[in-house]
Amino acid sequence: MSILVTGGLGYIGSHTVVELINNNFDVIIVDDLSNSEKFILDNIEEITGKRPIFYPFDLRRKELLTQVFDAHHIEGCINFAASKAVGESMTEPLKYYENNLFSLINVLQEFRERNISNFIFSSSCTVYGQADEMPIDENTPLKEAESSYGKTKQMGEDILKDFSRAYQKRVTLLRYFNPIGAHPTALLGELPAGIPNNLVPYVTQTAAGIREKLSVWGDDYPTEDGTAIRDYIYVVDLAKAHVAALKKLMHSNEETVLDIYNLGTGKGSSVLEVVKAFELANGVPVPYQICPRREGDITVAYANADKAERELGWKSETTLEEALKTTWEWQKYLKDRNN
Ligand code: NAD
Ligand code: WQD
Repeated sequence: MSILVTGGLGYIGSHTVVELINNNFDVIIVDDLSNSEKFILDNIEEITGKRPIFYPFDLRRKELLTQVFDAHHIEGCINFAASKAVGESMTEPLKYYENNLFSLINVLQEFRERNISNFIFSSSCTVYGQADEMPIDENTPLKEAESSYGKTKQMGEDILKDFSRAYQKRVTLLRYFNPIGAHPTALLGELPAGIPNNLVPYVTQTAAGIREKLSVWGDDYPTEDGTAIRDYIYVVDLAKAHVAALKKLMHSNEETVLDIYNLGTGKGSSVLEVVKAFELANGVPVPYQICPRREGDITVAYANADKAERELGWKSETTLEEALKTTWEWQKYLKDRNN
């Protein structure tokens, strides 16, 4: 079973590639290294004992993608490749629409032309905006996305709904909440380019002394400690959900499938709870200061992931502290690597 994994050297993609190989799938990665590094391929091989086939090119180069489909009998795709920096998407919206949508459409064209089904799309809890009620299940109404990045996820979902219906394809949309953590071997993890925007990479770099202090964006939210609440899901748990979703699609007797799953823990944690959990898990201090709210941030988002448990037999297994330990081990690995 050859599975195309676009963006397979990225953060979530690389962890998923490991789980796919562990489940005996043959993996073909296309990644242009725009937000990842080649050594991740060596590390995947070190973990699994198998080196996936790797093509380093930009998915917008349709002619190169066609050659990959000519060369392999591809039976499914997990599509991670996208630009994902929310702030940058507001100043460079065209980059986001172009990269995230053209890359997606190019793969879908190959699927249509070659009569391939089984497509999994990386969507995001961002499609819900600030939902009126918690927890968020798959029937929670979508609100207009706050960022151009978020809009590319909503548009991607719409494209895939039409694609599935019009061409009788099996498609799964996975809406991730906030992925965190690293591989237990400390050989894979998140590689934030420049100054991190996301909470856990910033906390980690602050603990490592790379950043002086964490800015906690707002302590006047209507939550218990005043800081905003999210659902932090361990990346290896998240990776396993992809394998479960892929198996379900491949074993389906239906020609046309459009499944949607929230992937989260079902538990919300505040910014200060994350800071405390990191300090406790790793025994290192995380200096912070309270700052005004960050524009565009919502107060609270956590998942109801019961549908994934019911239909995929998947649920999050790792605690926040355990996940934050792996992040710290990864940070130490990166430090050793750079010395
Ligand atoms: P990432 O940046 O680590 O991985 C994406 C990978 O895709 C990178 O390796 C990058 O080099 C590659 N890529 C980007 N554009 C490409 C192109 N045109 N051609 C070939 N390769 C390309 O990001 P991630 O955190 O692993 O996220 C994976 C997916 O999950 C993305 O679609 C992202 O939007 C989505 N997502 C991420 C989060 C999160 O917080 N990390 C949350 C929800 C959804
Ligand atoms: C979490 C909380 C911040 C950094 C983003 C994307 C979303 C999805 C997940 C892809 C918030 C606070 C953060 C810092 C802080 N990604 N914070 N100081 O905003 O929930 O979602 O990632 O699809 O689309 O928008 O995640 O990690 O940026 O922030 O206080 O230095 O931590 O205000 O409350 P977010 P995040």
